[in-house]
Amino acid sequence: MADKYQELVNGGPLTGVAKTLGLPQPPYLRRHKPGAGLLGANDRVLVTGSGPDADAIAEQLAAWELNVRRDSAADKKVGAIVVVLTEAARPTDLQGPVLAAAKHLRKLDKGGRVVFVSRAKSGDIADAALNAVRSGVEGIVRSLGHEVRGGATANGVLIADGVDVTAPSAVASLRFLLSGRSAFIDGQFLTVGSAAGELPEDWDRPLAGKVAAITGSARGIGAAIARQMSSLGAKVIVIDVPAAGEALATVANEVDGLALQQDITAADAGTVIADAAVQRYGRLDIVVHNAGITRDKMLANMDEAKWGAVIAVNIESQLRMNEQLLAHPAFAESPRIAALASTSGIAGNRGQTNYAAAKAGVIGMVESLAATFAERGGNINAVAPGFIETEMTAAVPFVNRQVARRVNSLQQGGLPLDVANAIAFLVSDQALGVNGEVLRVCGQNIVGK
Ligand code: NAI
Repeated sequence: MADKYQELVNGGPLTGVAKTLGLPQPPYLRRHKPGAGLLGANDRVLVTGSGPDADAIAEQLAAWELNVRRDSAADKKVGAIVVVLTEAARPTDLQGPVLAAAKHLRKLDKGGRVVFVSRAKSGDIADAALNAVRSGVEGIVRSLGHEVRGGATANGVLIADGVDVTAPSAVASLRFLLSGRSAFIDGQFLTVGSAAGELPEDWDRPLAGKVAAITGSARGIGAAIARQMSSLGAKVIVIDVPAAGEALATVANEVDGLALQQDITAADAGTVIADAAVQRYGRLDIVVHNAGITRDKMLANMDEAKWGAVIAVNIESQLRMNEQLLAHPAFAESPRIAALASTSGIAGNRGQTNYAAAKAGVIGMVESLAATFAERGGNINAVAPGFIETEMTAAVPFVNRQVARRVNSLQQGGLPLDVANAIAFLVSDQALGVNGEVLRVCGQNIVGK
C-alpha cells in the first residue's frame, strides 16, 4: 500500500528523471506530530484583511503562540497565510487583501497553509453583489488549491451571517485547517452555521470523556478512526462482521476498547450498538458510520446481488440505525454522527452507479437530519474521502491505482489517518456549529464540482 513512486522521485533514484521529464513529484505532507506546534517548524503567520474581524483573528492566532504578522514585507518564509474577507461587500473588495496575501505566496513554507475566512453565500441574500463576492471567495480557494506547491494547501472557513468569527466552531475550524491534521484536505471549506460548540481544555484530547462507536473498524479507515479517537481521549467500541472477528479483537486490544461483532445490516443493529455502549460505558456520544463495501460493475452488467448489497450496507443500514439510535435514551443528548460518503457520491465514477447512489445518499441523509441533530444539541456530517491507501484501494488494478493516486492537487493518495482526523474533528464539541455538511478529504481530487 506504500506509495513507492513517491519515494523514488523524492530523493530516490528517479528524482532527476522525474524533474527532466516533468513527471509528478508528490510532496511529503505536513502531518500533525505531537509537540511539534500548530504550524510545525515555522510559526510565522501572515494575516491580511482589515477591520475588527481580522483583528480578532490575529489576536486568536497570537493566543496560540503563533508569530503573527500583518502585511509585513515579503522577505521571510511564512508557515501560513490567513486572509480575512468577512467584510467584503462586492467583488472589488477582494483585491486588497487577496493581493496582499499573493505577495507572500512564494515565501509559503513547504506544508504551509492558506486559509480564507469569509461569510457563507446563500440564495436568501438579495444583494447580488454581496452574494457574488462571497461566492467569488470559493472560486479563489478552489483555484489556489491547485496552485500552491510543496504539500501546501488552501482551504476556507465559511461563517454564516450572525455568527461571530470568534464563535467556537469558527475558531476551531481555522485551527484544524492550519494544523497538520488537515494535511490531505485541499481546496475545501468548513461551513460554520451556528455559534454552538465549545473549545476543548486540552487541544490534544478533545474527545476526553466521550464514548464512540465505529462501524467497520477491523481494518482500513475504520481502524484508523478508532485509534485516532482513542488517542484523542475517547472510549471506543469497534464493530465489524463476525468474519473479521480476529482483526477486530486486535484493534480493540490496541485501543483498550470494546469489540462488538455485529453485521450492521441486521434489523436491530442500532439498538444492539447503543445497548452494548450503555452496558460497558454507561453512555454513547458518537457513532461513526464507516462500514462500506464496493461491488463495481457497469450499470449495463449490474445484477441484483451487487446492487442490493451495496445499497444495504452503505446507506440503508445507516438510515435504519439512525432511527434506532435517535430513539435510544443513551443517544438522546447531544448526539454526534459522522458518516463516510465518497467523492464518487459527489462526482460519480465509472462502474460505480450502485456505490455512488449509496454515497450520494449519505450526503442527502446528513443534510436532512441536520435540523433534528441541532435540536438535540448534536450534529451530523459526512466526510467524502478521495483515494485513500487501504486494502480496499490496494485491490484496484496497478495502472488504475497509479492514475487514481495522482489526479489530485497533492498528487498522492491520502492515509486512513487523514480521514480519521477529519472525522475526529467533526464529532468533537468544538465542531458543533458545523452541521449537515460534507467535508472532502481528497487532496482536491480533480473530479466533481
Ligand atoms: P475496507 O474494506 O478496508 O474496510 C471496511 C470494513 O467494513 C471492513 O472491515 C468490513 O469487514 C466492514 N464491513 C463491511 N460490511 C459490513 C457490515 N455489513 N457490517 C459491519 N461491518 C462491515 O474499507 P476502507 O477503505 O477502510 O473504507 C471505509 C469507508 O470509507 C467505506 O465506507 C468506504 O466506502 C469509504 N471510502 C473509502 C475510500 C478509500 O479510498 N479507501 C474512498 C472513499 C470512501
